[in-house]
Amino acid sequence: MTDTQAPLCGFGNHFSSEALPGALPLGHNSPQRPPLGLYAEQFSGTAFTVARAEARRTWLYRIRPSALHPRFERLGQQLPGLAMGPVNPNRLRWDPLPIPQVPTDFLDGLRPMASTAPAEAASGVSLYGWCANRSMNRVFFNADGELLLVPQAGRVQLFTELGRLDIKPGMIAVIPRGLKFRVTLLDGESRGYLAENHGMPLRLPELGPIGSNGLANPRDFVAPAACYEDSTGPTVLVQKFLGELWTCELAHSPLDVVAWHGNNVPYSYDLSRFNTIGTVSYDHPDPSIFTVLTSPGAHGQANMDFVIFPPRWMVAENTFRPPWFHRNVMNEFMGLVEGAYDAKAEGFQPGGASLHSCMSAHGPDADTCARAMAAQLAPVKLDGTLAFMFETSQVLRPSRFALECEQLQADYDGCWSTLPSHFNPSGDSL
Ligand SMILES: [Fe+2]
Repeated sequence: MTDTQAPLCGFGNHFSSEALPGALPLGHNSPQRPPLGLYAEQFSGTAFTVARAEARRTWLYRIRPSALHPRFERLGQQLPGLAMGPVNPNRLRWDPLPIPQVPTDFLDGLRPMASTAPAEAASGVSLYGWCANRSMNRVFFNADGELLLVPQAGRVQLFTELGRLDIKPGMIAVIPRGLKFRVTLLDGESRGYLAENHGMPLRLPELGPIGSNGLANPRDFVAPAACYEDSTGPTVLVQKFLGELWTCELAHSPLDVVAWHGNNVPYSYDLSRFNTIGTVSYDHPDPSIFTVLTSPGAHGQANMDFVIFPPRWMVAENTFRPPWFHRNVMNEFMGLVEGAYDAKAEGFQPGGASLHSCMSAHGPDADTCARAMAAQLAPVKLDGTLAFMFETSQVLRPSRFALECEQLQADYDGCWSTLPSHFNPSGDSL
């Protein structure tokens, strides 16, 4: 294993990295004989002819081409509960998924929670939780979409074809569709949330009147330095293709890219770098102000937004400060990395999740609402908290696992059931 360079920073730019000096050809993408006896291979994340600004592709210089593999066979063991359950409009909330008692790697530990579309659709998202207690000794790639990992407990290392990314709770990583990688648990156990984006690759949101700085700044995204394995031991390769797992055994490691250049790359981002913007007068901006990454969809409605609710100062005057009561055309799947979410007094735990579908009414629970209306308002820092949302314009169908698991809370509606009427037609409010 060789790792000679510092990680590369930036978003959407053209990067290059070589683990050995001279491994990266100059000028030619595919010379007749690439340096150091390597093979050249193009890894495309968009169609060849998309607009230049949309194009994502990387040239890989590797010990053996990816084409060197035997026939894939269907893996008997499938993702548990992958089938979609019956759709209903109810608000749903789950307790944290437990760390398994039996040896379970990242792939075995994936738990499908909800999906907007079958895997072959060219848009939509599928959402999972993961809980694992063993590092992968196999390599995986996902033909069905880009992966956004949000660890909640335990550090993980992603050894990708382009190099290694270490992430911990409070960070995220994005793996392009089709990129091979292996997940190593650096703390023995890991739990997290995974979004599989079937649509356009994630990108930074437009900033509009905010200007040229703010929210997630491009310089804080980290791509890996080239790093390779030159092994001839047997390696199990697994792919997810149209929702099913297939596998074959290689006689070498497929993580054998010695140099690369391009912009179809994995990356990590430390969410504490997010430049959070909010009101300094009254009321709230819409929560879109917290968008870290977005996958554009039709008619200006996001295929998926990744939105965080990070530590921040609350200073609004004469304002109901928790997230307001609302109904929304979008579908919101929320998770909590740490601390408490400012719209819920209890019941939404780190590692837990909630789903509020299109036009379902939600907002602060009764206890939070009462406290917010009675509060003496002064500047206050919300600290030690990190919630997030996968938000999509398409309806999320809960998986059969999500509807049948014992972590599904029986009476989520109850957190709003004691909201009183304060109506007084002849007088003041509270
Ligand atoms: Fe919401």
